[in-house]
Amino acid sequence: ALTADDCSCIKAIWPSISGHADHYGAEALYRMFLAHPQTKTYFPNFDFHKDSPQIKAHGKKVVDALTDASKHLDNIEGALNKLSDLHAFDLRVDPGNFSLLTHHILVTIAVHLPDKFDCLTHQALDKFLAAVGCALTRKYR
Ligand code: HEM
Repeated sequence: ALTADDCSCIKAIWPSISGHADHYGAEALYRMFLAHPQTKTYFPNFDFHKDSPQIKAHGKKVVDALTDASKHLDNIEGALNKLSDLHAFDLRVDPGNFSLLTHHILVTIAVHLPDKFDCLTHQALDKFLAAVGCALTRKYR
């Protein structure tokens, strides 16, 4: 579970992330598509070039959803409930893919905000993103 310290770290760094939602979101998606090309199969109509309009628009949606979750750290499952239904029942994304994307989100944050990415913030973000992954896959059971 997220501790009070984790929550402060997340709240401290998140405004620097949400202000670049399309840029960071697009980069995280692009890194995922490069490193794990099998994830492209879920996006049949996408242009996979770096910073394509679809990747940017979708990256912004993903980071905006995380921003919303960051405002409900005491109830991440509730905040992501609708998205959880969407991914499990409509999109049927294999649960193993969530940790792939969250890994690339973490890497993107580390690359762009090295001064803010101290060890405790790293740990807090890792726990937060794991909690998001859990929330988005709990409907599969
Ligand atoms: C759609 C968030 C992981 C595949 C979406 C949407 C959001 C979102 C906000 C838009 C929903 C809407 O339009 O109402 C997230 C978050 C994730 C995550 C926060 C984890 C951190 C994944 C993964 C995959 C995936 C791992 C597959 C590899 C999709 C697809 C759509 C979608 C295919 C529909 C895209 C479209 O056609 O517009 N996701 N997602 N998502 N997501 Fe995810």
